[in-house]
Amino acid sequence: MRDKFEREINYLRVSITDRCNLHCTYCRPKEGISLQGHDDILRYEEIIRIVSVAVKMGLIKVRITGGEPLVRRGFIDFIVALKKISGLQDISLTTNGILLEEFAQNIFNAGISRINVSLDSLNKDKYFHITNGGNLEAVLRGINKAEKVGFSPIKINTVAIKGFNDDEVLDFAELAFTKPFQVRFIELMPMGQANSDHSEDYLPAAQLMQKITSRYKLEKVAGKNNQAAGPATIFKIKGGRGEIGFINPVSGHFCATCNRLRLTADGKLLSCLLKEDEFDLKKALRENYSDEELARRVREAILSKPKQHDLACTQEHLKKCHRNMSTIGG
Ligand code: GTP
Ligand code: 5AD
Repeated sequence: MRDKFEREINYLRVSITDRCNLHCTYCRPKEGISLQGHDDILRYEEIIRIVSVAVKMGLIKVRITGGEPLVRRGFIDFIVALKKISGLQDISLTTNGILLEEFAQNIFNAGISRINVSLDSLNKDKYFHITNGGNLEAVLRGINKAEKVGFSPIKINTVAIKGFNDDEVLDFAELAFTKPFQVRFIELMPMGQANSDHSEDYLPAAQLMQKITSRYKLEKVAGKNNQAAGPATIFKIKGGRGEIGFINPVSGHFCATCNRLRLTADGKLLSCLLKEDEFDLKKALRENYSDEELARRVREAILSKPKQHDLACTQEHLKKCHRNMSTIGG
């Protein structure tokens, strides 16, 4: 599946629900979100059908996201069904970790061994604040359980927020030093809720890097900023067990190696996180389109992938990125 710019598109991020048990202040407003009803979101069998069609076209990697994927009933059976799709080589999951202690073993047994956990503060009160009520202890127990169960790699996603967690950068680095985790700092993208409530809170990755190198020696991991390794540039901490990564969608971008499509819980296929066009696969499924017709829609989405996003762009464009991240899944 090649797009117009000769990029191989082989990775689909699947949001299985827009519901979440947290309300992170940059991601999902506490009030005023209309959650989708049962019929609005894709049934698991519908997602399996889309993935099966896309695998025949060259898809090899799926990441399950949300909202929070662990809040949707039946997700373990869904993973088991995904695992049966021959040709699909890699299935991973992004979670906020709140329910991870409970589900880690079953997720692992179902066949997922790579997991990413969102964690923006290591301070109980600050975590409670940024997530609008989340329990840090539950997440830390979840991460420990994931480690015991055998997940590898375990990636911790930390969105860098000025005035909120810039004083914790070294604590996160310490976590990567003492534990075999890949801690990744993500630049705050000005979309949806982040654009209204956190418009002044962007921190460039270079600043974080400076803080970290004041205490730790970082060694670039060769080949780990290519598309196979995802959007992060990765460093080993000298003498430590884990790694530090930087995801810089704002100060730089990794569009040239982008290999992704995104499927929202309500069945829209997005060719780019930051492009407003959507391809309605739910409608196609429910109007009994054939596999060939579904494949044609997927191809259309791929061919519409822009060369790159423009986050340093005008307010006009940002207004068009109307979706909150919680409805896309990162
Ligand atoms: P792996 O590389 O498979 O570990 O996945 P990942 O790092 O892409 O997955 P994860 O869900 O942990 O994504 C981390 C964050 O990186 C996302 O939530 C986004 O904030 C950012 N990100 C991931 N993909 C893209 C992308 O295509 N464009 C932009 N601008 N940001 C992205
Ligand atoms: N900018 C950067 N990252 C974001 N995420 C959610 N909203 C934003 C944003 N505006 C991250 C979450 C999670 C991942 C799936 O997406 O923190 O780690």
